Amino acid sequence: MRNIPPAISKDPGTKPAARWPLMLETEGWPDYALIDSGHGRKLERYGRYRIVRPEAQALWTPRLSEAEWESADAHFTGAKDEDSDGRWRYRKPIGETWPMAWRLPRAVGEGEVRFLGRFTAFRHVGFFPEQEMHWAWFAQEIHAAKRQPKVLNLFGYTGIASFVAAMAGAQVTHVDASKKAIGWARENQEMSGIADLPVRWIVDDAMKFVAREVRRGSRYDGIILDPPKFGRGPNGEVWDIFERLPEMMRLCRQLLSDDALFLCLSAYSIRASFMATHELTAEALSGLSGTIESGELLIREEGGGRTLSTSLFSRWSRNG
Ligand SMILES: C[S@@+](CC[C@H](N)C(=O)[O-])C[C@H]1O[C@@H](n2cnc3c(N)ncnc32)[C@H](O)[C@@H]1O
Repeated sequence: MRNIPPAISKDPGTKPAARWPLMLETEGWPDYALIDSGHGRKLERYGRYRIVRPEAQALWTPRLSEAEWESADAHFTGAKDEDSDGRWRYRKPIGETWPMAWRLPRAVGEGEVRFLGRFTAFRHVGFFPEQEMHWAWFAQEIHAAKRQPKVLNLFGYTGIASFVAAMAGAQVTHVDASKKAIGWARENQEMSGIADLPVRWIVDDAMKFVAREVRRGSRYDGIILDPPKFGRGPNGEVWDIFERLPEMMRLCRQLLSDDALFLCLSAYSIRASFMATHELTAEALSGLSGTIESGELLIREEGGGRTLSTSLFSRWSRNG
């Protein structure tokens, strides 16, 4: 038996170098914190609201009293796992949305993405705070390029990753199957005051779009993909991560330009290790230089408490 330290291995000429496990942890920012967790729930602060949602991995005991949890503004109840229905219960009537903001890394400029938190069905709040570790990373990759790279954001949802990329200097193509999600993304773009930045909106099945782009000979310098476990395209096309991700990665490789900068894949709510996405990414990107890093995205309770794992990822950088 042995412990595996974060290691870097090189297989020159065939595959990018590999660095894993890489545990990327956020402790939040002024508009977001994980306040407490335990007994299968988490208590978070999103802007002006404190929100309680189920969290199957919080096996431990909460720090705060039940009264403090109960005083939260909104509770999502009735669903034990990500796939089942539940409903929001509010302490007093509140609107469906509220303002949020996230500041780009200082090295990239003074920009701030402004967007709406939103009480959506299936417990989500309109964005995934753990993704900030990736937002900061690809913002720096784009900024350092000193050109206007073309970035593709697949399964782009409410657009925060697209706006971070655009504010860092990219020309962005944002793809999502849901007209409603793209409508919310456009609201966020307006809120951020960046209507003039180049973001192209595509309502399409991600797989169909990528296959079409390959046939057209299109190329991108960066690709972000954050696919759900299961989803549907606008015409009922079925997305099942275990069935379709290998083909998706093969097509994404064909879309990468000769001097591409990065590819960033995350996955959540699936029964798999980051080794699965790591080996798939290494296979899909064989022949490229650079480094693939793989691991988990973590959120630490504010004040340095416990750590929750939210998702797994593999990301490649030419300059890593
Ligand atoms: C949970 S979100 C991804 C999170 C997002 N990348 C972020 O960081 O906020 C999953 C998105 O995938 C979209 N989706 C599901 N199936 C799809 C498909 N077949 N093609 C394109 N988008 C799809 C959904 O509409 C949803 O917006």
